[in-house]
Amino acid sequence: VGSRTDTANLAQIKEANDLGILDGVTTNPSLMAKEGIKGHDAIFAHYKAICEIVDGDISAEVVSVDFNGIVEEGKKLAAIHPNIVVKVPMIKEGIKAIKWFTDNGIRTNCTLVFSAGQAILAAKAGATYLSPFLGRVDDIGWDGIELIAQIANIYSIQGYKTEILAASIRSPLHIIKAAEAGADVCTCPLESILGLLKHPLTDSGLAKFLEDAKKM
Ligand code: E4P
Repeated sequence: VGSRTDTANLAQIKEANDLGILDGVTTNPSLMAKEGIKGHDAIFAHYKAICEIVDGDISAEVVSVDFNGIVEEGKKLAAIHPNIVVKVPMIKEGIKAIKWFTDNGIRTNCTLVFSAGQAILAAKAGATYLSPFLGRVDDIGWDGIELIAQIANIYSIQGYKTEILAASIRSPLHIIKAAEAGADVCTCPLESILGLLKHPLTDSGLAKFLEDAKKM
């Protein structure tokens, strides 16, 4: 399963990248604002800095909500670096814009996806990636993993090429379950990725090996 860090924090991006298993980064306006990135120049410089750290797909989100605005903003974001993927919200104007980007060779990540119907529309528009927000689905008492499995099933039956990028991941278990349900990629907070490392039997087993190594 592909791995992305879901952050705009450069230190965390570097730490995740140093693991050697990172395939890219996703950001959103909330994550950018959290890092204090403000204004056109700072935003563009920040995306460039991320592209210089990680050799993989970097999702940069538009904030326009009309077709012309999304297309203009997306073209500028895509021009920052060949690895930039334009993140577009799942709205009517967004679908039109994704189709335009598809026809013009610009890769997209359709974001804010919460249903199988939305997933079908994004695939038909040719989105490169689809971001179902599984944690936010769980937050309202629905089943985010079930949504990933449903979309994976539909995409497989229909032969859609759009990759499922499980987003809004909150725990290591989410990563495991999303991978099992058919997600192509998971975008995760660094702590969820590091959480995959943990097992008490690994810790106690290593402690014993190191103790016995002194007797070797
Ligand atoms: C993807 O990049 C999404 O914007 C992100 O995973 C949303 O996560 P959240 O629900 O934890 O804000």
